[in-house]
Amino acid sequence: MGKSFTELMAQDKAVIEEYLSHVFEGEMRHADLQEAMEYSLLAGGKRIRPVLTLETCRMCGGDVLAALPFACAAEMVHTYSLIHDDLPAMDDDALRRGRPTSHVVFGEATAILAGDALLTAAFEQLTRAQLPDSLIVAGVRCLSQAVGSAGMVGGQALDMAGEGRALDQGELELLQGLKTGALISAAAELGCIAAGGDPGQRVQVRAYAQALGRAFQVRDDMLDIVSLQEEIGKPVGSDQVNEKSTFVTALGLEGCAALVEQLTQRGIEALIGFDNSEFLIWLARSLAQRTK
Ligand code: IPE
Ligand code: IPE
Ligand code: MG
Ligand code: MG
Ligand code: MG
Repeated sequence: MGKSFTELMAQDKAVIEEYLSHVFEGEMRHADLQEAMEYSLLAGGKRIRPVLTLETCRMCGGDVLAALPFACAAEMVHTYSLIHDDLPAMDDDALRRGRPTSHVVFGEATAILAGDALLTAAFEQLTRAQLPDSLIVAGVRCLSQAVGSAGMVGGQALDMAGEGRALDQGELELLQGLKTGALISAAAELGCIAAGGDPGQRVQVRAYAQALGRAFQVRDDMLDIVSLQEEIGKPVGSDQVNEKSTFVTALGLEGCAALVEQLTQRGIEALIGFDNSEFLIWLARSLAQRTK
């Protein structure tokens, strides 16, 4: 019998962890900057984004190991976004990935710089992929468009501007699609790019990941209420303390559960026509049920 999906996921994660643990090897170390970068990067997140990169690459018929620098670049951008998201000026949270947050351990200045440096290092990683230059340029364009002011950072700006105000569902969809959906979508698309996927495949992969990313953030909003800190490794109730409008405040928990189902189904349908889409279908279903 072949490997189970859970085993495949564990195998991908092991390859990702191994790569990330060597990313800064041989670099000059300045004060506690590199220590802070590794403290957050190697703290054991779920690694959903890099797994998506590797598995969309596999589905599109590419060389999974060649996509590894792309995958890890997405995780580095994600980690930077979490460090900054937790800062006192933003969500002001003290726990992340089961550890005290970066600014609590290293101070605000170092946390900001560790985030800055992870973001920059991510783009260096993209250029290190053993792929044709044209694919690397496409990867740089994909990731930079997704995480800048028209993407993730723009979503974070809307999130901060919305504090203390009731946002309607349309505003929330825009905000969440940007702050979370854009990077998840880019991570998946990077795998397709690494595989040399054609434009039609990229459109399908993007549609899958956009739906998945939206479902992921709705589930995140639910877990902020129904989970336990020990389970999710970050504070629960943070959204309420910060007076955030979330999908839970807009739709209630049951409405959220129904939306997650609907989005997951939409994501799965976007993959129709691909051979070897079983893992990504399983991943969408298991993320819809996730408890952390
Ligand atoms: C948390 O992302 C922030 C959101 C965009 C919801 P994850 O839930 O993927 O966090 P890690 O990487 O597992 O820590
Ligand atoms: C964070 O959203 C999104 C980004 C970091 C871009 P949240 O603020 O909901 O994430 P958590 O709940 O702190 O992980
Ligand atoms: Mg936030
Ligand atoms: Mg937060
Ligand atoms: Mg949240």
